[in-house]
Amino acid sequence: MKILLINGSPKGDRSNTLKLSEAFLEGILEIDKDAEIRQMNLSEKKIAPCRGCFACWNKTPGKCVMTDDMQEGIEGELWADLMIWSFPLYYFSVPGLLKNFIDRQLPMNLPFMEEQEGQTGSGGHPSRYDMSGKRHLLISTCGFYTAKNNYDSVTKLFDHVCGAGQYESIFCGQGELFRVPELKARTDEYLECVRQAGREYAQKQAISEDAKEKLRELLYPRDVFEKMADASWGVEKKSGEKEDPVLTFTRQMAALYNKDSFDQKERVLEIRYTDLGKAWQIVLGKDGSTVLDAGSREATTVIETPWDVWQSIARGEIRGDAALAKGMYRVTGDFSLMIHWDDFFGAANAAAGKEKSGKNSDGRTAEKEKQPQMIFMLAAWITFWVAVPVGGNVGAIVTLAICACLPLAAWNRKLTVYDRLSFGIVALLSVLALQKGCVNIALLAGYLGFGLMWLLSCLTKEPLCAAYVKYNYHGDDALENPIFMKANRILAAGWGILYILIAIWSAFLLPAGHTALMQILNNTATVLMGIFTGWFEKWYPQRVAAGK
Ligand SMILES: Cc1cc2nc3c(=O)[nH]c(=O)nc-3n(C[C@H](O)[C@H](O)[C@H](O)COP(=O)(O)O)c2cc1C
Repeated sequence: MKILLINGSPKGDRSNTLKLSEAFLEGILEIDKDAEIRQMNLSEKKIAPCRGCFACWNKTPGKCVMTDDMQEGIEGELWADLMIWSFPLYYFSVPGLLKNFIDRQLPMNLPFMEEQEGQTGSGGHPSRYDMSGKRHLLISTCGFYTAKNNYDSVTKLFDHVCGAGQYESIFCGQGELFRVPELKARTDEYLECVRQAGREYAQKQAISEDAKEKLRELLYPRDVFEKMADASWGVEKKSGEKEDPVLTFTRQMAALYNKDSFDQKERVLEIRYTDLGKAWQIVLGKDGSTVLDAGSREATTVIETPWDVWQSIARGEIRGDAALAKGMYRVTGDFSLMIHWDDFFGAANAAAGKEKSGKNSDGRTAEKEKQPQMIFMLAAWITFWVAVPVGGNVGAIVTLAICACLPLAAWNRKLTVYDRLSFGIVALLSVLALQKGCVNIALLAGYLGFGLMWLLSCLTKEPLCAAYVKYNYHGDDALENPIFMKANRILAAGWGILYILIAIWSAFLLPAGHTALMQILNNTATVLMGIFTGWFEKWYPQRVAAGK
């Protein structure tokens, strides 16, 4: 396929729209490796406005009286199979540069009056050349929050130029966001949809309804976007005067607040840019966020960070949790804001944008329902420890039955490797307990096995508790979080050591007939460790964050 990309943005290679066009071409090239691409940046070309002399129709048919770069444009159009018209929306239409280019196509038409296929019934001129196999695609970004209702003039224009229904289009609102590095995660997601549209186009010469639906999704909900856009100009809203760029940055961050994450607790986040000696507060409330001067309110969470560190985190160049673990910045006060940062800011807003267009919410609920639950794994062990000492052989058979039933009971859940391992080990221990005189050995082996499973899990990429708890912290992403991982390794090691100790003291108490004492000791130790776990998982991240 031969493709002519006509870049009508006056910004040339810095065009937001061009990012979409390039993603589309990448998609095409993945499928059609031999596709040939020519790009014309109209901002770099000398194309004078049409003089309206009609010489190209009568005096020198097919040839313009002016000699400039438009000749390259016409040759390109005759050469290409597909024309990609890439341009920003200017005053609800195409920019002057592109309108100029369109006007200068006059030599490509014959002067006669003749309606073409797909034209609107208002009259037309036939083409001088055979353009029948040529295809057109419009890619455009605009500055308002949505493309809807903003492209009426553009579609009317191209209905006349290419014929209604004879071209595909990708129109995207919030175009200026494509140049904001801090929002790359969301804009990259959109660009991937454009890339997918490119792949489809290379295969079917069309973009599916499914892909179009995704391309119509807002990058951010309207209120978040408009707040962010207003903040991005770097001028004070009331006075119109230039404001401190660090304040602008803070305002943009505040604009990313997702008020749906409000949990009946107003938070005051104070950000202190330590190297600049500047600080502001962001109040996160029921109705949205407000930026205040530092010290205006009592801060609930304080972040102390060098300016460049915070910028790098916002741009996704470094992970916030990793930087925190390395002590590159400090956090004091209410740490829940940091733990659920993505719910309060950023990613959650993008998701909210999708939800508003009726997408994904069901998918996420279903995903949540499937999350593994530690209770299934524990049920196998607890049944074994209760049923076998009390019921002997009957207890062992009951445990075996429970081990067989648990995977069925958890049919709508993901099972972790620890669930499967536990069902298997407990079943084997129950079989051992059924052997004559082996109940005590089976019980002791159970304590030891349970302890070793916890302890050895520390050496894996996913310590036992992390395999379940990670779902409360954005799933697999939590495994990249050094603070989360360290806390979970410590806890898994703690539980492992405790159960090995339980196995050791039970090895003395059980043969001596102190079964009741052993049960009391084991249960008390487990409850205390449970209380410690609940406390530690809150205390530890807070301590690291405070740089202690
Ligand atoms: C002169 C001018 C007129 C504009 N008119 C509109 C408009 O009518 N509607 C709109 O949504 N955005 C409008 N915009 C915003 C641009 O369409 C938007 O910033 C776009 O993403 C720029 O794309 P580019 O970087 O590819 O040039 C206008 C921008 C300029 C400079």
